[in-house]
Amino acid sequence: MERLRRLRRTAAIRDLVRENHVRADDLIYPLFVAAGNDSVTPVESMPGVSQYTVDRLSEVIDRVVSAGVKAVLLFGIPDHKDEQGSGAWDEEGPVCRAIRAIKARAPGLVVIADVCLCEYTSHGHCGLVHDGSILNDATLPLLAKSAVAYARAGADIVAPSDMMDGRVAAIRAALDASGFVDVAVMSYSAKFASAYYGPFRDAAGSAPQFGDRRTYQMDPANGREALREVAADVAEGADFIIAKPALAYLDVLARTCDVCDLPVVAYNVSGEYAMVKAAAANGWIDERRVVLENLLAMKRAGARMIITYHALDAAEWIHEER
Ligand code: PBG
Ligand code: ZN
Repeated sequence: MERLRRLRRTAAIRDLVRENHVRADDLIYPLFVAAGNDSVTPVESMPGVSQYTVDRLSEVIDRVVSAGVKAVLLFGIPDHKDEQGSGAWDEEGPVCRAIRAIKARAPGLVVIADVCLCEYTSHGHCGLVHDGSILNDATLPLLAKSAVAYARAGADIVAPSDMMDGRVAAIRAALDASGFVDVAVMSYSAKFASAYYGPFRDAAGSAPQFGDRRTYQMDPANGREALREVAADVAEGADFIIAKPALAYLDVLARTCDVCDLPVVAYNVSGEYAMVKAAAANGWIDERRVVLENLLAMKRAGARMIITYHALDAAEWIHEER
């Protein structure tokens, strides 16, 4: 008889045959950077997550470094919004200033800048709006300009999350033309129009003021189409592919990893974080075990890296288990 339990008999045997691991190096920690001074503002729907002004970032950056997490992903909360989202490429805006501050304090930390307009536009959409529709091609130069501003500030990687077609090519061309040939593009390729982004939109103040994002983000019903998004971004020169959300879309993550030999990144999004934190606060689940199990599931599905708000806690727990 086949006895699969033979390899589960002791902790040491289980360690030997374990196929996947979550390590601190796998994790990317998202940070919300706000305009202004001397404030750390907790995000109500994301317990443990705060918005930091640039002058207060060092406290969290030091925690990232001591946890052994190697990369952060920056989102900006500007002090003004307009139709174009001009704050996105402001070299004195919170993201550019944060990149310079982080590089000064922790030169070895990988700095990734999210590229999108929704945090900066008065209408809250990820692209330019005309007559109630979101313009694709007219948005591309603005995304490219933002990516170049982040590269100039010192970002290692830019991560377009807007879902306009052709933006990876536009950003790659603009980076190259400005001499930033070594700045990588981490593209949110398979990004769905998901209700799981709710808490993020509180954190970033980026909820659309009319309509929704379904004309540009993917329909949650479609798995095969995600592979076309991935193929397009690979052809346009992406260096990394993000699939997002993670938990309800592990099938998409696994299929992406099957067809794509670039490093694939899972984004464990804000709503997934909020659900775990809420259940844990009620004493209904064991937070540590659930978080590590979720992250392991993303690795098992094929993710090389995971963007997660749990990164600092998880890194500490992983360290303790050693
Ligand atoms: C901005 C952006 C969003 C997220 C990452 N970049 C929100 C959205 O598209 O509405 C979601 C992240 C999360 O929920 O944690 N385009
Ligand atoms: Zn956006």
